[in-house]
Amino acid sequence: MMLSQEQIKKLESSPVTEAIRMVTDWFPNEVVFSSSLGQEDQVLTDIIFRNDLPVKIFTIDTGRLFNETYELLDRTIARYEKPVHVYFPEAADVEKFVTDKGINSFYESVENRKECCHIRKVKPLNRALKGAKVWITGLRSEQSGNRQKMPMIEWLEDKQLYKFNPLINWNYDQMMSHISKNNVPYNFLHDKGYISIGCAPCTRAIEPGEDARAGRWWWETSQKECGLHTTIVKQG
Ligand code: ADX
Ligand code: SF4
Repeated sequence: MMLSQEQIKKLESSPVTEAIRMVTDWFPNEVVFSSSLGQEDQVLTDIIFRNDLPVKIFTIDTGRLFNETYELLDRTIARYEKPVHVYFPEAADVEKFVTDKGINSFYESVENRKECCHIRKVKPLNRALKGAKVWITGLRSEQSGNRQKMPMIEWLEDKQLYKFNPLINWNYDQMMSHISKNNVPYNFLHDKGYISIGCAPCTRAIEPGEDARAGRWWWETSQKECGLHTTIVKQG
């Protein structure tokens, strides 16, 4: 089923809880949410679990996450008493890549880094999205230049599904106030200067005033995206 302009307008003008409920009515059992356990994602997990919205929540364990992130996964499951599905990279892919290139080869070239992200994140993501018609993410336009022009919902031809970013227009303060008001579990690294958190070897804390994504792949000067969200944006 393709959404009409009217349905899209309705989504864009509804509060997040109602908007997610709407897509689950339109696409029963075909809505999934990818959570990195970042602050945006914890807000969405809180909304989905507390309102019993029929959305499958999954996270990709790249094998290189911070221990604080694993602890947060445990705290989240304990708090809501609902499952977060965990996807891993293919063992054979990781074994070959690490044996050929070295355990931390992502520091050596952008090419190695992208290959690592492809094996550890993009491939498991594609596996997790199989059969889904709507993919919910925690993207916010404030996060980076590349994300500024992202629409709330868009059809991805290559993946044959809708990518839905319900928090796209939320600002940082809105997100933080939802977290504190609802006592949402969050990563303790956020209290230590980390904003955007990915794999441990590829994330560092940032200084006050630095760009929110400055701590991701900080040794690179290229566009700081891992390949999960690099679709060309056609709509304004
Ligand atoms: S990334 O492209 O730089 O890695 P970022 O950390 O900003 O992404 O997260 C943006 C969105 O990508 C999250 O809201 C989430 O939907 C998805 N995402 C990123 N990392 C993961 C992960 N490890 N598991 C599941 N989803 C993820
Ligand atoms: Fe590999 Fe770093 Fe990408 Fe994680 S963020 S998948 S460790 S290159």
